[in-house]
Amino acid sequence: MTSRFDDIQELVMRDARKEYSETTMDLFMNPRNHGPMDQADGLGTVTGPCGDTMNIWIKVEDGRIVNASFTTDGCGTSIASASMATVMAKGKTLVQAGRIEQQDILDALGGLPKESVHCALLASNTLKAAIKEYAARVR
Ligand code: FES
Repeated sequence: MTSRFDDIQELVMRDARKEYSETTMDLFMNPRNHGPMDQADGLGTVTGPCGDTMNIWIKVEDGRIVNASFTTDGCGTSIASASMATVMAKGKTLVQAGRIEQQDILDALGGLPKESVHCALLASNTLKAAIKEYAARVR
């Protein structure tokens, strides 16, 4: 027997599935690479125009991002976007990861509703900020 809470949750999820791809829903419900990183080599912190802040940490070896993680106080879409940005950054050289743009994250997520596309921009900007901070540190 399902409770009233389960019924409401199911309705909310059904509505969300109409607007968001399976990938976005999965990354929102089970974010990859979530949480601060100990002994990171670079940290990017950016506050978007919406007022939400995102942090991305990177670990670098031989010019390649070997680990990346994030936190954000933003919306569910920002969680999915940051999660995707860290997944995409891992294994890439700093130059390749620095070229990850908003559109790349949107494509990988299978698109976002128009009102949420800025959350993917926040993720790409925060990743770039982490790379920049690392570059300034080792210069
Ligand atoms: Fe601010 Fe999504 S609304 S990051």
